[in-house]
Amino acid sequence: MHWQVDHQPNDVTHALRALSAVLACGAAPQDVKWTEGEAAQGDLLDGTAAPPPPTEAVPGRALRQLPVGFMPLAETVALHAQADRYERLHELAIDLADDPRRWRDALDPRRLSLERMAREVRREIHKMHAFVRFRQLDEGNGEVHYVAWFEPVHHIVRAAAPFFARRFAAMHWAILTPALCVHWNREGLEFTPGVDRSEAPPPDAGEALWLDYYRSIFNPSRVKTAAMLREMPRRYWHNLPETQAISGLLQQAPERSARMVAQASESQRRMPIGVPRVAERAPRTPQEQLSDLGRRARHCTDCPMAAAATQTVWGEGSVGAQLMIVGEQPGDQEDLAGRPFVGPAGQLLRRALVELGWPAGQLYLTNAVKHFHFLPRGKRRLHKTPGQREAEACEQWLEAEIRLVAPQAILALGATAASSVLGRSVGVAQSLGSWWQRADGLPVWVVHHPAAVLRRAESGAPDFEAWVEAMRPALQRSMA
Ligand code: URA
Repeated sequence: MHWQVDHQPNDVTHALRALSAVLACGAAPQDVKWTEGEAAQGDLLDGTAAPPPPTEAVPGRALRQLPVGFMPLAETVALHAQADRYERLHELAIDLADDPRRWRDALDPRRLSLERMAREVRREIHKMHAFVRFRQLDEGNGEVHYVAWFEPVHHIVRAAAPFFARRFAAMHWAILTPALCVHWNREGLEFTPGVDRSEAPPPDAGEALWLDYYRSIFNPSRVKTAAMLREMPRRYWHNLPETQAISGLLQQAPERSARMVAQASESQRRMPIGVPRVAERAPRTPQEQLSDLGRRARHCTDCPMAAAATQTVWGEGSVGAQLMIVGEQPGDQEDLAGRPFVGPAGQLLRRALVELGWPAGQLYLTNAVKHFHFLPRGKRRLHKTPGQREAEACEQWLEAEIRLVAPQAILALGATAASSVLGRSVGVAQSLGSWWQRADGLPVWVVHHPAAVLRRAESGAPDFEAWVEAMRPALQRSMA
């Protein structure tokens, strides 16, 4: 059975409802043709083509049963211009419906490519906010109408419009684009079909003023062409009045500045237009992927701890380190410093590693949970053991770190770390003194958490010397 879903690029609600419908009827991505245009007669959504009942062989799936992060991702990706975006979302939705644990795989190639698309959409919304330049049109009744022309690549006009409504609430304005125009009459937003560039207003007096102002603030000795290009990609230039002035300004600059700027411009000219910025290229080496992962984890909000903590505390060390040490979660000091194992428990661990003669370059230090979990008590923040929800939310990051660092062995500090690394609930007492194996074959050694040693809080927690000795087999195995 083949389905045709006609959707309008500027009506993502319709398209996401269609995605929900094809999922519910168990259609496979290759059986659904997504075409841009007016909603067709007899398509899946108008009921004239009844979807088949789900069968066991082709089970229906419900969007609402997918991990909570899927819909926000889908809503952003739906604004991307890439024609196969719904097919890709459909594929990921099916993967997730069949195995929701895949959402915890931060390196899943399908998820990665959709997240890249979502980033491109967000970036363009940001650029639209920054680069729309209104021109004044006198309406003849004493009113001024501000009109701008913008050419987005993605379908972002609806998503970007509320910003302008807030920012220019008292003005009467319109932003014209080839695909969709938005108008603000000081009361509400109205969307109308796109128009041709010829309908964009000509330069006006306001623009001359703006150019004068731009010339006056332009400082050629501080010009950073690469940063300027990064912030203002060339494809926006032809609609930005200030770009007409830039080359002239550079020429008039004192000779030395002009030479510096010209050299920089030359190197930029050699960069073909359309080549993505380095930071946006698909990461190549595991080390680059690891850094990229850390950057993404900084914005993770999969559990409520993210809102209360100061920052994500990412792992420290290099890809290929022979031993990975996994702690529970950052403490108060780690949360403030943004580095793992710098507080009292961390210092005890570092002292133990020195006593064992552990080469620092062969270590990767991280935590099962990446945010500080605490209870506020007056001015103090009391450590709170992370629950299953927090550990599960962070599992994707830890698993991706393990895969990229690819250590020879893992040393788990305490029960939370051991449970996260082994993927099931384990206690410290039952795990001490023997090697455990993860599903991927990696050997895991478990010792008490340094905080337990520090406080001798748990019954059976060893003293410092015994704890150091308990760690030794992990060193020997990872160096073997
Ligand atoms: N500091 C960390 O970074 N992790 C722990 O588990 C304890 C202290």
